[in-house]
Amino acid sequence: MDDTSFISIQNVSKRFGSVLAVDQVSIDIRRGEFFSLLGPSGCGKSTLLRILAGFEFPTSGEVHIDGQAMAAVAPNHRPVNIVFQNYAIFPHLTVKKNIAYGLLDARLPRARVNERVEEMLDLIKLPGYQNRASHELSGGERQRVALARALIRQPKVLLLDEPLGALDKKLRESMQLELRDLQRSVGITFVFVTHDQEEALTMSDRVAVMSKGRHLQIDSPARLYEAPQSREVAEFIGTMNFLEARVLDVHDDTVEIDAGTVGLIKAHKRDPHPGSGARCTVALRPEKISLHTSRPDTGNTVRGVIDSTAYLGDRSHHFVKVEGIEAPLIVSEPNLDSDAVEGGPRDGEVWLNWSMRSVVLLS
Ligand SMILES: Nc1ncnc2c1ncn2[C@@H]1O[C@H](COP(=O)(O)OP(=O)(O)OP(=O)(O)O)[C@@H](O)[C@H]1O
Ligand SMILES: [Mg+2]
Repeated sequence: MDDTSFISIQNVSKRFGSVLAVDQVSIDIRRGEFFSLLGPSGCGKSTLLRILAGFEFPTSGEVHIDGQAMAAVAPNHRPVNIVFQNYAIFPHLTVKKNIAYGLLDARLPRARVNERVEEMLDLIKLPGYQNRASHELSGGERQRVALARALIRQPKVLLLDEPLGALDKKLRESMQLELRDLQRSVGITFVFVTHDQEEALTMSDRVAVMSKGRHLQIDSPARLYEAPQSREVAEFIGTMNFLEARVLDVHDDTVEIDAGTVGLIKAHKRDPHPGSGARCTVALRPEKISLHTSRPDTGNTVRGVIDSTAYLGDRSHHFVKVEGIEAPLIVSEPNLDSDAVEGGPRDGEVWLNWSMRSVVLLS
């Protein structure tokens, strides 16, 4: 176990009959961290969360929380609380009773319960909502009440399974910020499950990208985006262009790559990197490529023709045909000037240019 680990998941697997839902996952989560499990539907996120909560037992492997082995600890004795996707608040109870439910079996005096509920309502920014019925709340408000009910017991760990999944985009975005602020102010460790990469990147200190029961990469949002370690992660996070190539030469700081008809590409050397002669994939983010009408003097350059343009409001995506490459390269340009947009898409021949540092080299 890692010294800084607060939740330690060691070689955990879970089999349901012939389905291996979780496959040898090892993750160390730090105290106070906002940690997300991100991956497509069916990759084992909820199963892993349910293992942490004690609702499922791993087929093999171990879970420790705050130094304590969880194997023999029942769900209600674990220092965790869970919030589900379809916010299970009781429809027949008021907001106050829903929130206080988390405390009831603690047999606190009534005045103290009222005080704690009020604190929680302030925290979730719904002061004065004590006597509202569940059906008098919006989806986002119901979600906050579910959070308050989970938080009132002051768990060391809060497990959240797609808690914002049912909300519309605008509300989800504001709830993301609120949840992040709330997590910082209470200082509880959050393990957050989502299949929405933007959501995971916005909210998390670190993210584990999962696929088919395995964890592919555990990193900060910036590193997952800027330095994905595999094609799978690069494809899952944001938009990426890929070029098949071969390593020509490895120097002190640079790697020279033969990208066929695209020509020679130079990449900043990062470890690990494929060796001389190895087949490799050059990965390039659309916003790291710039378009020019004449050939730029520095950086990596290739000639292309703009095939079509998608207007996305804040930016446009140009689909640029480059000789010898089947899929057009996507180039993202911010729409800084509204006149330029009204002038219609740019067309004709262009030079594409990108720096050595923006090249991600995958083996
Ligand atoms: N109780 C169960 N019995 C049998 N198979 C199960 C059971 N629970 C989950 N599975 C299977 O395990 C795999 C992982 O399921 P899980 O619910 O963990 O996925 P998920 O990543 O949470 O997906 P989603 O994003 O759709 O919620 C799936 O193939 C699912 O069908
Ligand atoms: Mg799930």
